[in-house]
Amino acid sequence: MAKDRKVWFITGASRGIGLDIAKAALSAGDRVVATGRDAGAVKTALPDTDDAIALQLDVTDPKQATTAVAEAMEQFGRIDVLVNNAGYGQLGVFEEIGHDAILRQFDTNLHGTLHVTRAVLPVMRRNTSGHIFNLSSIGGALGFDIASIYCATKFAVEGFSECLALEVKPFNIGVTIVQPGFFRTDFLDERSIRFSERAISDYADYAQATQGFYTSQNHAQAGDPAKLGAALVRLSREKTPPLRYAAGSDAHEYLSGAYEARMAELSDWQKLSKSTDGAAVSAA
Ligand SMILES: NC(=O)c1ccc[n+]([C@@H]2O[C@H](COP(=O)([O-])OP(=O)(O)OC[C@H]3O[C@@H](n4cnc5c(N)ncnc54)[C@H](OP(=O)(O)O)[C@@H]3O)[C@@H](O)[C@H]2O)c1
Repeated sequence: MAKDRKVWFITGASRGIGLDIAKAALSAGDRVVATGRDAGAVKTALPDTDDAIALQLDVTDPKQATTAVAEAMEQFGRIDVLVNNAGYGQLGVFEEIGHDAILRQFDTNLHGTLHVTRAVLPVMRRNTSGHIFNLSSIGGALGFDIASIYCATKFAVEGFSECLALEVKPFNIGVTIVQPGFFRTDFLDERSIRFSERAISDYADYAQATQGFYTSQNHAQAGDPAKLGAALVRLSREKTPPLRYAAGSDAHEYLSGAYEARMAELSDWQKLSKSTDGAAVSAA
């Protein structure tokens, strides 16, 4: 295989952003291991060829992650790019979301990323090269209405990714956190999104209005997932890829606003921040 033909390992590739990343990588001449919790659905969306295979991988199961990586290695002998994409949104007012639903959300969005990364890293360390894309969200850097649990998982993905980047840099492995704005996929469709049951009347108006907003955006989002796929291919070619990549004009706008507000607050409270410094330790 030509050295610059990369092998991609993508989770949640049955539809949406994961599928479009797989298609973009193939169009660029790379090879793809497209994984999903229903390998048949992945194969239907992206038929097997010499350059693409579909594999079974429910990211909540660490054993499936190990098996899928072993099968990928058997097929292509290397993994150059990992895309931790599988995920869904558990929305709803915090008090209305049961603990089981919270655990499921963390199992997929955070623990799934950890399981697959753990399975792939030994391969990348051996090659002393690799690039990991972790799908976060603008909700990984700022809070949204009725998104406390989803945002908690994505903030966690960002914290993990930032620290991982420090650990794996010596092995020439890059980490990029991808922060999409609103992209036109099934994300807000009832096949994917989950809303809490209405249970607490105090929240009723607020929850209904915000849920109505999200539902109204279903399949009407501005972002084009095919273009996001192409952007990740472009980033995979960078010698020094960014730690964070905000995808979409909306992402750029939301994140700029959030960072500016944080800087302003930091500055407003600087005096009180510094007020807690202890006295200097005197030399013995
Ligand atoms: N679209 C957006 O606006 C947006 C914005 C910010 C961030 N994101 C993030 O981008 C990623 C992809 O979302 P999308 O927009 O492409 O959503 P989508 O169209 O709903 O696709 C989600 C994908 O994740 C897969 N998946 C869910 N749970 C899984 C599991 N346990 N194991 C393996 N695969 C699993 C789904 O597989 P099945 O077909 O088997 O259900 C599907 O392939 C997610 O991490 C999401 O949080 C999306």
